[in-house]
Amino acid sequence: MSEIWDAEAATFDDEPDHGLRDPEVREAWRRLLRDHFPEPPARVADLGCGTGTLSVLLGDEGYAVDGVDFSPEMVDAAREKAAGRPDLAFAVGDAGEPPLERGAYDVVLCRHVLWVLGDPAAALDNWVGLLGEGGRLVLVEGFWPTGTGLRATQTEALLRAAGREPTTHPLREDVYWGGPITDERYLMVG
Ligand SMILES: C[S@@+](CC[C@H](N)C(=O)[O-])C[C@H]1O[C@@H](n2cnc3c(N)ncnc32)[C@H](O)[C@@H]1O
Repeated sequence: MSEIWDAEAATFDDEPDHGLRDPEVREAWRRLLRDHFPEPPARVADLGCGTGTLSVLLGDEGYAVDGVDFSPEMVDAAREKAAGRPDLAFAVGDAGEPPLERGAYDVVLCRHVLWVLGDPAAALDNWVGLLGEGGRLVLVEGFWPTGTGLRATQTEALLRAAGREPTTHPLREDVYWGGPITDERYLMVG
């Protein structure tokens, strides 16, 4: 499965919401994450970090980020993007069972990965275990026209089962995606 993502790594950032190359799109995500994150400095785990775009954005805001992805090519791209940055570290590993210190994080961030995990409930239990006191989960997910993904109601149920009360924020604005969308996309805090 990681081979499929390895093959995506070289072109992954071409999508507006992946590479955040358009300053308006990047600024929208920057504001969104700041609105739902604690004040920096804080420790963030970015699970299924892909090419590290959000990790780098958060590093620029003053957060220390540990990214985990099971695709070596994605992790290579993230390391290249974050070269020379002691505040950002990346590891190859399973997002469902992240090789990270338990109880050490203020935020566990996961964008567009929960839905692909074989056992999302078990993953969420592990993610809650990464959080220190007062820590939060910040999930960005959606349900796409292909019929894949997680509806907000499904993710809310998963969060409640993990002992976290969810707050859902729809992300309908074009600016997050580089154009209009017709499907369900949201950020959820728990
Ligand atoms: C749609 S991309 C999202 C990347 C990044 N979170 C972002 O929003 O830009 C999905 C990422 O999850 C990673 N991934 C999928 N399943 C994984 C797993 N079980 N463990 C670790 N990473 C995984 C893929 O390699 C890919 O980089």
